[in-house]
Amino acid sequence: MGKFYLTTPIYYPSDKLHIGHAYTTVIADALARYHRQIGDDTYFLTGTDEHGQKIQRRAEEAGKSPQEFVDGIVKGIKSLWQLLKITNDDFIRTTEERHVKRVQAIFNHLYEQGDIYKSEYEGWYCTPCETFWLERQLVEGRCPDCEREVELVHEESYFFRLSKYAGRLLEHIEAHPEFIQPVSRRNEMINNFLRPGLEDLCVSRTTFSWGIPVPFDSKHVVYVWLDALTNYITALGYPDDPELFQRYWPADVHLMAKEIVRFHAIIWPIILMALDLPLPRRIFGHGWLVLEGGKMSKSKGNVIDPVVLVGKYGLDAVRYYLLREMPFGADGVYSEDALILRINNDLANDLGNLLHRTVAMIEKFAGGTVPAPNGYEALDREVIDQAAAALRERKECIEKLEISNALAAIFRLVEKTNKYIDSAAPWALNKEGNRERLATVLYTMAESLRVTALLLTPFLVETPGKIWAQLGLDGDPAALNPENEAVWGRFPAGTQVKKGNPLFPRIETEKTGCDQPPAPAGEKGRSPAAEVQAKVQAGVKPPAKPAETPDGADLVTIEEFARVDLRVARVLAAERVPDTNKLLKLTIKLGGEERQLVAGIGQHYEPASLIGREIVVVANLKPAKIRGLLSQGMLLAATNGDELALVVPEKPVGGGARVR
Ligand code: ME8
Ligand code: MG
Repeated sequence: MGKFYLTTPIYYPSDKLHIGHAYTTVIADALARYHRQIGDDTYFLTGTDEHGQKIQRRAEEAGKSPQEFVDGIVKGIKSLWQLLKITNDDFIRTTEERHVKRVQAIFNHLYEQGDIYKSEYEGWYCTPCETFWLERQLVEGRCPDCEREVELVHEESYFFRLSKYAGRLLEHIEAHPEFIQPVSRRNEMINNFLRPGLEDLCVSRTTFSWGIPVPFDSKHVVYVWLDALTNYITALGYPDDPELFQRYWPADVHLMAKEIVRFHAIIWPIILMALDLPLPRRIFGHGWLVLEGGKMSKSKGNVIDPVVLVGKYGLDAVRYYLLREMPFGADGVYSEDALILRINNDLANDLGNLLHRTVAMIEKFAGGTVPAPNGYEALDREVIDQAAAALRERKECIEKLEISNALAAIFRLVEKTNKYIDSAAPWALNKEGNRERLATVLYTMAESLRVTALLLTPFLVETPGKIWAQLGLDGDPAALNPENEAVWGRFPAGTQVKKGNPLFPRIETEKTGCDQPPAPAGEKGRSPAAEVQAKVQAGVKPPAKPAETPDGADLVTIEEFARVDLRVARVLAAERVPDTNKLLKLTIKLGGEERQLVAGIGQHYEPASLIGREIVVVANLKPAKIRGLLSQGMLLAATNGDELALVVPEKPVGGGARVR
C-alpha cells in the first residue's frame, strides 16, 4: 500500500463558510476515508488562509483586530467540520507560529538564491480575489475573475521570477497529462497563461500590515497567495522538521474549485521548482455549486448554510446529496428540491426500503435468522455479479475522482437487489413451503446489503453502521477494508437480524406529499362513507367521526347497494407511485379485463407482497385521476387507527367473481 496526501484549499475566514466550501471538504473527506480503508498511509490537510488586505478590511468593518476577527470565524469553521464528521489529520492556520516562521525561511531562501528581487509595482489589484492584474487583463476595467472593481497600486515590492521557470513548467504540464485536471483546466492554463508568457509576480505589499513580515525588510508583508500556497508544505514541517514532509510530500491530490486552479497550477509549482522540491501529482479543479441566480458567494450574501441543512435533513442526507448530485468537474445547480428528491428516492425508497424489506422478510419467513444459501441460480448470480461490479466500478471511479459515479455504481446494486426481491418472490416461496430456495433468496438479500453498507462507508458516516446493526452484524463496517471484505459470501449464516427504525424518513413537502390528491372527477354520487373510503385509499386519514345520521337518512336500500359492483380481482403488478410513500399503482385482473388502480396502502403493504393476491374492488366506480394516474376502481380495506388490512376472499375464487 502506498501513501496518500490530500489537501483542500485553506479557506478565507472572512465570513462563515457555506455549502460550496462544504462540498470540497466532504469530497476530500470521502477520498481520505477511502484511502485509509484500503490501507494507504493517508494524510488529509485543511485549514484557513488568514492574512491579507481583504481580511484586514473585514476586521476593521467589524471593529475588531484582525486576529480577534479570524479567531471567531475559525472556531465556527472547525465546528462545521466536526458537524460534517470531516476526518482531517491537521488543520493549519496561517497565523500560527509554525507557519509564519517557515514562510519567512522560504522567502529568505528564495531571496538569497536570487529568485526574489526588489523593484516597484505599478498595476491593478483585486482585493476580494487578492490578485494582481495587468491593464490588458482587465475586462471593462474590472477584475476578470469576479467582475468587481480593482484598485490602482503603486508601491515598492519584491518580485518572484516566475518568468525564469515558465518553460520548465510548460514542459512538465505537457509531459504529465494527469497533473492538471480536468483537461479543460489544463488547456486553459496552457493557452491562456503559459503560452502568452509569464510576468514576474509581485510577492510583497507595503500599504497594509496584516501579513507575515518579510524577514529582512519589515515594512513589507508577504503576498497572501505565496503565504497561503506554502501551507501545503509548512504543515508537514518543511523546511525545519522533515519527518512528515518526507513521509507525505508530494501531495497526491490538491483539491479545489476551478477559480483557484491558476494559482495552484502556475505559481505553486514554480515556488516548488525554485525550492528544488517535487511537484504535486494532481491538481483537481472541480466545478461550482451555483444557485439559480448565479454563483454563491460570501460577498454576494446568497449563501446556503450547511449547518442549517444538516439540522433539517441529517448529516448523511447532506453528504449524499453533495457527493451524488454534482457530476464532478462540472458546475451544478444547488436546489433544496433536488436534495429532497435524492433523500426520498435514493435513500428512503431504494436503500431504506431494501433494508426494511430484507429484515422484515427474514423475520417473517426465517424466524429472524439469516439462513445459509443452498446453491445459486441465474437470478441470484445477477445480484452477485452486480455486487462485484459495484466494488470494481467504485474503485475505478474514485481513482478518477468521479465520486458521483462511484455512488451510482453502488446504487445500481441496491436497485438490482430490489428488483431481485420482486422476481424471486420470497413470500411465494414461503407459501409454497420451498424452504431451500427461500434460504438462498433471503441470504442473497442480506449479503447484498452487507456489501452495500461496506461500499458506502467512505461516503456516508452513520448509515453503514445502522445497516450493519439491523443485519445483526458485529463491529464497525468503517473499520473494515471493503477491498477484502466486500466479497460475496462473507455474511455469517445464523446471524440474528434486528429490526430498527427506517434509515431515512421520507421528507414530506407540498409537492411530494399526497394529503390532497386532486379531487377525482365526477364523484358527486358518492356516499359520505365512500368519500371517506376514497380518502383512505388516497392515504388521507378519515375525520375522527365520519358523518352519521341517527335518523336513518343515510341508510341505503338493497337496490341502492346492488348498484355497487363489488368484485374479486387478482393483482398482476404493483409498484410505488414515485415521490409518495402512500400510493401504490396496481395492475389488476377482473375476469378477462385488466385495469389500473391507485390505492393508498403503500405504508402498509410492500408492492411485491401483493402480486398474485386476490383483493376486493368496487368495479363500477367512476374512473378518477390520482396524481395524474388513472385509477379505475377502488380496493376495499378495513382501517382502525393506524392499522389497515385488505379485504380478501377467504379462499381463492378467481378474478372477476362477484361479491355480495
Ligand atoms: O480561495 N462551489 O479561499 P475561499 C464549489 N483562501 N466550491 C466552492 C464554492 C462553490 N460555490 N465556493 C467555495 C480561497 N468553494 C483561498 C485559497 S489555497 C492555498 C487558498 C470552495 O475561501 C472551493 O474549493 O475563497 C473553492 O476553490 C474554495 O472554496 C475557495 O475558498
Ligand atoms: Mg474565493
